[in-house]
Amino acid sequence: MTSLFDPIVIRDVVIRNRLWVAPMCQYTILEWDGVPREWHLVHLGAMAAGGAGLIIAEASAVSPEGRISPADTGIWNTDQLEGWKRVVDFAHTQGAAMGIQLAHAGRKASTFPDWGHDGRQGTMVKEEGGWPTVGPSGLSYPGHAVPTALDVAGIHKIVDEFIAAAERAVRAGFDVIEIHAAHGYLVHQFLSPISNDRTDAYGGSLENRARLLLQIVAGIRGAIGEGTPLVVRLSATDYLDNGWDEIQTATVAEWAAEVGADVFDISSGGIVSGVPIPVAPGYQVPLAAFVKESAHVITTSVGLITTSAQAAEIVDSGKADAVMMGREISRDPHFPLRAAHELGVDVGYWPPQYVRTHWPKVGQVESAFNDG
Ligand SMILES: Cc1cc2nc3c(=O)[nH]c(=O)nc-3n(C[C@H](O)[C@H](O)[C@H](O)COP(=O)(O)O)c2cc1C
Repeated sequence: MTSLFDPIVIRDVVIRNRLWVAPMCQYTILEWDGVPREWHLVHLGAMAAGGAGLIIAEASAVSPEGRISPADTGIWNTDQLEGWKRVVDFAHTQGAAMGIQLAHAGRKASTFPDWGHDGRQGTMVKEEGGWPTVGPSGLSYPGHAVPTALDVAGIHKIVDEFIAAAERAVRAGFDVIEIHAAHGYLVHQFLSPISNDRTDAYGGSLENRARLLLQIVAGIRGAIGEGTPLVVRLSATDYLDNGWDEIQTATVAEWAAEVGADVFDISSGGIVSGVPIPVAPGYQVPLAAFVKESAHVITTSVGLITTSAQAAEIVDSGKADAVMMGREISRDPHFPLRAAHELGVDVGYWPPQYVRTHWPKVGQVESAFNDG
């Protein structure tokens, strides 16, 4: 029997299984006010009804300037808190735990949304609704505007914004907070020597490059108390010589755990474009396994995990404590229920509305289902 559907307890939160939803930007806030509405209720609500253990809502900006695009969700004000609360409350009726990914896009901010706008990409200028970007250094992401290097006061302000956003998220009812420190966004920009050439306390040594992340983790932990799990999403490697790598990732994960992080959501890449990545089914699993073994922390793996057998193998072999899914669970929001059905696990949280869709259980005889 697989342990994929075993609950996991992290701090005060019981998560019903180890099949989790990865954060996925929807670029859907056409009002450009960061407030999630019907789409998020239906999109994430379907995954909650579909049996996911934990759903991490998409990269949500801690400030307007931190958005990747104007169509992003936010968590910098009360209207956004209220919008999220509706989604969280519904997910809870379905037994799913809810998390939110707190994000600042840094030098990758102020871009065209992923869809619409005639497919335009790259930086949105002021006349189009964009804004000036910031980063650790004045080094641009390929094809994007040159950011202004943050001064120390600017860095402290962003730490405070992450903390305030986490407090707001807890007030909205989120069970879990995730910090986006991956995919080339602001925190990763500080971690990686590719995008950080500072010579002050936030650049140079690993300790200095990790300072922003550690201040955010410690600050959030101090503000939200001991009960709420804190996840950090890290790109374990830039896939570049002289870039960020697995060893730095494991070291910083250990430091982050010491100041209050609980789970490491291991992804990869994103610091610059055009880097060859060895994409294949489960290609990031070895990275999660490495961090788990080296840093002795709880990890999740993500990336081309698309079948129930594959997900079960990753958890059962101890390579990661949970798996996250993005594209497959978007194609089939009820994937966790499907996986339980396929693996013959009686999970006990089929929505009553769907109980008959779960028949016949494995080994049972088919009968007529045309009544009602
Ligand atoms: C539509 C879409 C939006 C995404 N948005 C985010 C995001 O907001 N934050 C993040 O860390 N990763 C984001 N990702 C990456 C996913 O979380 C995930 O790591 C990636 O899709 C690999 O997993 P998969 O193969 O299961 O899709 C996004 C991916 C997709 C497909």
